Amino acid sequence: MDKEIKTSIKVSKNGPYIAKDVKILRNSKGDLIETKTVMTLCRCGGSSNMPFCDGTHTKIGFSGEKEEDRVPDKMETFVGKNISIHRNRGACCHVGYCVHDLPAVFERGRNPWADPDAADPEKIAALIKSCPSGALSYTINGELNKDYSQEPEISIMKDGPYNVTGIELDGSDGSVPETQDHYSLCRCGASKNKPFCDGSHYDVEFRDEKN
Ligand code: FES
Repeated sequence: MDKEIKTSIKVSKNGPYIAKDVKILRNSKGDLIETKTVMTLCRCGGSSNMPFCDGTHTKIGFSGEKEEDRVPDKMETFVGKNISIHRNRGACCHVGYCVHDLPAVFERGRNPWADPDAADPEKIAALIKSCPSGALSYTINGELNKDYSQEPEISIMKDGPYNVTGIELDGSDGSVPETQDHYSLCRCGASKNKPFCDGSHYDVEFRDEKN
């Protein structure tokens, strides 16, 4: 019977994520958490049994709606000699690997924000592949690189989102990630761009001790 279940994550209205047939779920230390064929994962930030839903979303009147003043989706391209960098700021989870790891290429507040000629194209490509949200992609030799065929996995970021790879997001509620290959799902309940993380966990100082 399990074989008929497709590996997927569904966003339930004003409630948890419903993860089906996900075999790898990791806590923020990288340790495996025991999985079930169908799991409900908290996205309101209030569960006492993180990462699983315990029904708190109903008690606190959690709303899973997007907010009007979220950063709008807009694709920008920074053209370089050997690599072009694409960014959708509306999908960014603000984990900041780009500005921390390659500051010559990516600089907050600079215009243009990215300088694709300021580092080796291979280094830039590797950095972009490490971005969990899917906000960044790149083109080399005319080929767009956006999906990387990663292993199906949900990985919890400490005090932050669920970083998902290789699992299709069921878009029946209208949620469309920038790439189906990898995306970050809000876990604190405060994102303006639900179900996706927009970095609001930093603003609300979301903390979870256990995961
Ligand atoms: S979504 Fe159900 S307790 Fe958080």
